Amino acid sequence: MPNSGDSKPLATDAGAVIRTPDAASLVAAGDAIRAGHLIAFPTETVYGLGADATNGEAVARIFAAKGRPSFNPLIVHVATVAEAETLGIFSEAARRLAAAFWPGPLTIVVNRQPGIPISDLVSAGLPSLALRMPDHAIAQALLAAAGRPLAAPSANRSGHVSATSAAHVAGDLGAAVSMILDGGATRHGLESTVVDATGDTLALLRPGAITAEAIESVTRQPLIRPNADPAVPASPGQLQSHYAPAARMRLDAETVSDGEALLSFGPDVPVTDAAQINLSARGDLVEAAANLFAALRALDATGAATIAVMPIPAHGLGEAINDRLKRAAAPR
Ligand code: TXA
Ligand code: MG
Repeated sequence: MPNSGDSKPLATDAGAVIRTPDAASLVAAGDAIRAGHLIAFPTETVYGLGADATNGEAVARIFAAKGRPSFNPLIVHVATVAEAETLGIFSEAARRLAAAFWPGPLTIVVNRQPGIPISDLVSAGLPSLALRMPDHAIAQALLAAAGRPLAAPSANRSGHVSATSAAHVAGDLGAAVSMILDGGATRHGLESTVVDATGDTLALLRPGAITAEAIESVTRQPLIRPNADPAVPASPGQLQSHYAPAARMRLDAETVSDGEALLSFGPDVPVTDAAQINLSARGDLVEAAANLFAALRALDATGAATIAVMPIPAHGLGEAINDRLKRAAAPR
C-alpha cells in the first residue's frame, strides 16, 4: 500500500517512513546510505535491509536492527557483473553462473579479492563473500543512487518470516530504518538460491528462487548438497529455527484440528471452518512460493495456536518451500 508523494508514515508502523520510489526519494535514500543509515528496499525475492557494505558501522547497524547473531554473514548486492568481479574471485563456473542468472535471484559465494573496501563484518570474518545482482528496477536505482555496494539481509527480525511487502518491513523493523522504499509485493516471494563457488565443486548452501535443476542445466555438473540435515547449518546463517511465525507449525497435515489454521495447497483441501489460505489452488509451485511468507504472516495474525500445513511436492521450487517450512516448524 504505497503512500502518496508526501510520504507520511503509515499509522501502523513504529516510525518508519514508507515512500513511493521517485527521483526525490531515491536521491534521499542514496544520501542516507552514504551517511551510514539503513534503507529497506524491494528486490525480486524479498525486501532487503540495506547498508553501505564498505562502512563497518552501517553494517553493524543491520545486525543490531535485526537482532541477528553476528556470525551470520550478509549478501553484498552489486549493480553489475563487472563490479562483482572487482570484489570477488570468480572461477570459470562462477562466471558461467553469473552470465546465466544475473541479474536474478542467485547468490554466488566466492573468495574475496585482496584489499577490497568491503567491511569484514559483512562476511563475519570469513575469507569468502556472497554476491548478488538483483533483478529489480528499484533495487538497481538505489544501488545507482548510493554508488556503493549494498550489504542487505532479508528485512525481517532475525528468525522471523521474511518480508515480502513494505508493511511487513514496517511491522518488523519499524523505527530502525530511515526509509522503506515501497515496491509492492515481491515477485518470487522466496530468497535467492545460495551457491558456494569458492572451490572446485559447486555446493547448494540454500535452496531458493532458482531451482537446483536450472543451475545444473547450466553448469552441467551436479550441485553438491553439503548436508540435507536441517540441524546442521550448511551456510553459517542457515539456523535450524528460522522463518518462524509465532504459531506452532504442523507439517504434512491431512486434516485440521481445533485451534489450528490451515495453510493449504492444491485443489483438494479438507473441508473446515478454520482460517485457511491456499498457497496455490491450482497446485502451482511458483505461485505457492510467491505467497508463502505473506500467508504465514496472515495466518499468524488470526491468533491460531498452530498452523497446519498440507504436504507440498518436493520437486522444483518445492525444495526451497519445504526448506523454509521445515525451519519454520523447527524447535525454537
Ligand atoms: O533473496 C535474498 O537473498 C535476500 C535479498 C534481500 O537479496 N537476502 C537474504 O539475505 O536472504 P539473508 O541475510 O537473509 O541470507 C543470506 C544467506 C544466509 O544464509 C547466509 O549464511 C548466506 O547467505 N551467506 C552470506 N554470506 C556467506 C558466505 N560468505 N558464505 C556462506 N554463506 C553466506
Ligand atoms: Mg533471512
